[in-house]
Amino acid sequence: MASLSGVLLAALACSGRDPEPEPTPPPSAEELTAARATFVDQALAQNHADWPAEARAEVIRDGRAAIERLQCNRCHTIDDIEASSRPTHCVSCHQWLNGLEPTDATYTKLAGRYGAHVMERYQRNIVHYLDAPNLTRIAARLEPAWIETYIKNPHDLRPLMEETMVRSQVSPADARLIARYFAAVAETHDPAGQHTARAPAAAAVQPSAERIEAGRGLFMRRGCNLCHTVGNVDTGKTREDLLRMGTIARLAPNLRFTRERMRPELAAAWILDPQRFHPDTTMPVTNLTPDEAEQVRDFLFAVDPRLGPTPPVPELVLPPAVTRPVSWAEVKESTLGRICVHCHMNDHERDNGPGNQGGYGWPGVGLRMRTYETLVSGQRVRGAAPDSERVSVFLPREPGGSIPLLLEVMLLRRVEERRDRVEAFADYELPPDHGSEHLGMPMGLPSIPDEELALLRAWIEQGCPGPTEVTGMPGIDDGFLVPDGPIPVNHGCELRAPTEPRPAWSTQPPPEWERPREPAPAAPAPAAPATPSPATPPAGR
Ligand code: HEC
Ligand code: HEC
Ligand code: HEC
Ligand code: HEC
Repeated sequence: MASLSGVLLAALACSGRDPEPEPTPPPSAEELTAARATFVDQALAQNHADWPAEARAEVIRDGRAAIERLQCNRCHTIDDIEASSRPTHCVSCHQWLNGLEPTDATYTKLAGRYGAHVMERYQRNIVHYLDAPNLTRIAARLEPAWIETYIKNPHDLRPLMEETMVRSQVSPADARLIARYFAAVAETHDPAGQHTARAPAAAAVQPSAERIEAGRGLFMRRGCNLCHTVGNVDTGKTREDLLRMGTIARLAPNLRFTRERMRPELAAAWILDPQRFHPDTTMPVTNLTPDEAEQVRDFLFAVDPRLGPTPPVPELVLPPAVTRPVSWAEVKESTLGRICVHCHMNDHERDNGPGNQGGYGWPGVGLRMRTYETLVSGQRVRGAAPDSERVSVFLPREPGGSIPLLLEVMLLRRVEERRDRVEAFADYELPPDHGSEHLGMPMGLPSIPDEELALLRAWIEQGCPGPTEVTGMPGIDDGFLVPDGPIPVNHGCELRAPTEPRPAWSTQPPPEWERPREPAPAAPAPAAPATPSPATPPAGR
């Protein structure tokens, strides 16, 4: 990071040197600082709203409850709301594991417990949820009304970030409550209009073509294009150039949405001094004058990014199956155990995952993928009661259909991606909705490529052959550390009710450090296990 910001500062410094001669002598550093501060103060004052103390406290309390209920704090940092614990926090656990060096004591400890190859695999496989936008005081920048719409119907905002905001099951009332929470925290106008009226927008002045062009020039010369895209506008950079900037560019929004998200005076103030909005922001200070900031803003608000045509809805067609035998171990390694299991864990685990017992507002469908036995026990129909009948994920959703449910949801993710993932400089008009009432999988992540679908299809067509040896028990550290073992008779893809007797290995209690933590007993328990450190990841996650 240190070297990156060095590179960045150097780049900003040289691109800041304006080749054209200045007509008037530039203001002194002090004058500039004062002018910037005044400008930002004015913009913030214009958007400040006095909330009655009691109403503000109430909205913050109720909004926080909704945020916690919907688990927004599993990915986002939000004001002083406590992050969900490490065993459930998608971003902090991934960051933590990826940041461990082989010489760290924790690394050595975990490698001792799971095997060094497991640690290597973790670090190789974890590529997503290494960062997410920080939502602290977010309504100081973003319009509360925009936040409300976005929560209900999120879309891609950051072309270099593969993860997208997950579709939560959020009621209109909760979306309103959360938007009001953000407005109350930032003390800006209430989107419900109850306590604070919106300040009238400044009279819209159409900037001249020259100003817009000047803004475009500043955008290119002052380094904005190192991190940002503006739809399809040619910024003289490529996707690869942006990728070289690392995390900071992954977090930089596509600025073609800014005019929908920000009030004009706030956009200019942000460009001048982002840290006044939020001290930990990753956007650097850019050393513009207030007038220059307004010119860039005028460019961003007026530019026509000439979007490409919306791609057609992808057809739900499976690629041909591979023509060789495919084992459970292979599909587990390629897809189901590498990606899907992370939200479809088995019941006994500390976090059994939003796709099993619910999360992000979804009730969960009871689908568990950690072991073969639990996967073949199927899932509940979406929205059905917890004790309702289970259905096989290897059969089509509707009788007469041709695509197994497990693979259909992977194809549906491709439909969602038209809206959830738009590459840098390949921007197009987003479709109005996600395209399907059913959720695509893996939720919020890039869709599964054809090669993996071809393997999974072959495996299902070959009758879902089960494991042939025991793997994953403590001491048999194949890395998928939950017991999974040979099935004496292969029942094919047939649904097996979870009430059927399970083989001994599948019901064996989890190792001590895997069990949910319980409050300390009054009397010392016999042979009490060492308390698992909060830093211990659920095995094999
Ligand atoms: C599984 C992780 C995850 C969860 C849970 C989640 N989000 Fe997000 N959220 C993201 C990601 C990733 C983005 C960035 C998307 C993009 O830029 O394309 C995002 C973007 C946002 C943004 C836009 C912020 C900006 O700076 O552009 C808002 C607002 C937001 N989320 C609110 C919420 C709220 C409210 C909840 C709970 C209802 C929530 N998120 C739950 C991952 C998550
Ligand atoms: C306690 C630590 C921990 C938590 C919490 C955690 N993960 Fe992971 N995650 C891991 C590990 C370890 C791997 C790599 C496992 C492997 O390859 O066997 C991983 C891998 C993944 C992968 C596949 C690799 C990739 O980057 O695409 C996805 C997807 C994933 N996790 C999603 C999530 C989501 C979503 C959440 C929050 C609901 C979450 N994880 C919470 C530890 C964690
Ligand atoms: C080093 C990378 C980087 C550079 C250079 C950079 N930005 Fe940013 N910018 C970001 C990041 C990251 C964010 C999101 C900040 C956050 O979420 O706290 C951001 C946010 C913004 C936003 C808010 C947009 C929105 O829709 O939310 C605007 C406007 C913006 N930048 C304009 C600019 C301009 C104009 C320049 C050049 C003068 C510039 N940025 C230079 C990284 C950068
Ligand atoms: C980020 C978390 C997450 C990941 C990763 C994930 N799922 Fe899910 N999945 C969920 C949630 C949440 C639900 C439950 C939705 C509900 O309650 O209706 C679900 C439900 C499902 C369903 C039932 C859908 C329906 O319409 O009945 C299937 C099938 C499924 N997931 C398969 C997969 C597969 C296959 C993968 C990997 C390619 C995967 N999931 C990865 C979170 C996830």
